[in-house]
Formats: sequence, C-alpha cells, structure tokens
Amino acid sequence: MIKKGIILAGGLGTRMSPLTKAVNKHLLPIYDKPVFFYPLSVLMLSGIKDILIIVNKGQLSQFKKILPNGNNLGIKITYAEQKNPKGLPDAFLIGEKFINKDNVALILGDNFFYAQSLTKKLKECVKLHKGATVILHPVRNPSSYGIASINKKNKIRKIVEKPKKSFSNLAVTGLYFFDNKVINYSKKLKPSKRNELEIIDLLKKYKNNNKLTAQFLGRGGAWLDTGSINDFYDTSAFVSALENRQGLKIACLEEIALNNGWINKKNIETAIKFYGKCSYSQYLSTLIKK
Ligand code: G1P
Repeated sequence: MIKKGIILAGGLGTRMSPLTKAVNKHLLPIYDKPVFFYPLSVLMLSGIKDILIIVNKGQLSQFKKILPNGNNLGIKITYAEQKNPKGLPDAFLIGEKFINKDNVALILGDNFFYAQSLTKKLKECVKLHKGATVILHPVRNPSSYGIASINKKNKIRKIVEKPKKSFSNLAVTGLYFFDNKVINYSKKLKPSKRNELEIIDLLKKYKNNNKLTAQFLGRGGAWLDTGSINDFYDTSAFVSALENRQGLKIACLEEIALNNGWINKKNIETAIKFYGKCSYSQYLSTLIKK
C-alpha cells in the first residue's frame, strides 16, 4: 500500500520564460488554480495524505504562501528544495528520508489528469506492494515523451525515452508508483547524454526484473502536460470548458479533503477566509450549504 507521495515542482521552466523568470512554473495559473493544485489533487484522490513537494532553491516561501503545511486539508505537506535540476529520479535521493522504508508515488508538478473512474484506478495503483506501475496514455507525437509497449498481461515490453523511431503511441505519463527499491535503484543511475538522471532508466531496472506494470486512463481520459505556453492554454481551456458547463470544479483540494472525510465544514470556512472574495471561495461556500 502506498501512503506517501512526492510532487516534483522544481525545474527552471525555461520553455515558459519570461513568465518563469521570477515565478515557479507550478504557481502559474491553469484557469482558476495554480498548476500544482492539479497533481496534488491526484495524490489526494489516491488517498495519499503524506506529501513531499520538491521546489527550486529560493522558491519555498512562494509555495508556503498558498499552502503552508496542509493542516487545513487534513494532510501533511513537507517541502524540500532542489539546488539544481538533475532529472526526475533525483526526487528519490532528495526524498530518501521522507520515503524511509515505505513505497511511494511520484507525480510531476506540471501533469494534468482527468478521466472517468480516475479515483478507482488510482486506488488500484496505490495497492502496489512490489514493483512499479506507470500510467500509459496515447499521444500523437511519441518522440516527445517516454514511450512504452506492453504485452497481453499489461507488463511493459519495451520502454524508450523520446524515441526517434516510433514503436508505440503509448506515452509514459508523469505519474509513477514505486516500491521502496526505488531509492537504491536511483542511487545507481548514471546521468544520460543530456546530463540528467532519467526516469526511463529507472523504470528499465523494474522492467528488466519483470516488475513494471501498466495502468491506463482509458480512451475518454485526458492527460495533458503544461510544459509549454500552448499546453498551458490548452489545459486552461479544457478546465474552463468543463467547470463552467458543469458547475463542478476540477482539483478543488478542499472538496476532495471534505469528500475523503479529512476535514469538516469549519476548515472550509477557514479556507474561504484565507482565499478571500473570489470564485474559488464562492464554490467552497456552496459545498457547505449542501
Ligand atoms: C518527462 C519524462 C518522460 C515523460 C514526461 C511526462 O519528460 O522524461 O518520460 O513521458 O516527463 O510529462 P520531460 O518533461 O523531462 O521532457
């Protein structure tokens, strides 16, 4: 069972400059919320309450202004700083003490997930005892992502980072579930040609032991990453269209915590005071009027 999660919200956000010169990319808006609310909501929907957020050196105070410690969500947030981006598996080296002897989920701070029965699928993933699970979703441009092919039992057959020659359209999304071996495996990784520790090299260690399994969002699901300006606007448009049509918010952290029974109406009132007069607060007030 996985009870701990890491959100990797560091990186320089170079592709988003000048927007990211002063502000961490994960604090920029996806429609009505900061980017990192979306991956945080995914961990919360999985039932994970103990969360480490890794941010760039010097940007901790920006995050703490929005989310000081997680108390008001009934969860525990710990922050750690990354001096310079060294690749995704660095999360397990920075997070070694936090993970301790447990299994752990990792989500990239700029990844967005939306799917029918998402919570049910996530709850399956956190049941992981041994090995690792990745979430796969089709993409039009496989050469931009980690790509995998699978066998009939949903075990990964082949996995390549940004393949030049296409062999599958299934991208490895930025949500991963690992057993505790992830720490030792990460320690053994060597930097790639782009001088980073690669998540695909880490996943290959599980694959070579026949311990890497795939889960799927399903055809109606959306996986978007917010790496570029265009992706940002596409994701914002998606959230705006759904929220305004349905009157239901995506990634409303307080709503998830309330539904999970982690907080009560008082916490919602505190949140409304904290956010002030805004549409997010208005939405929160509808939750406690029900
Ligand atoms: C990273 C991973 C890649 C994965 C992608 C998901 O790519 O290396 O395997 O498919 O995240 O967002 P990057 O964003 O570093 O190019």
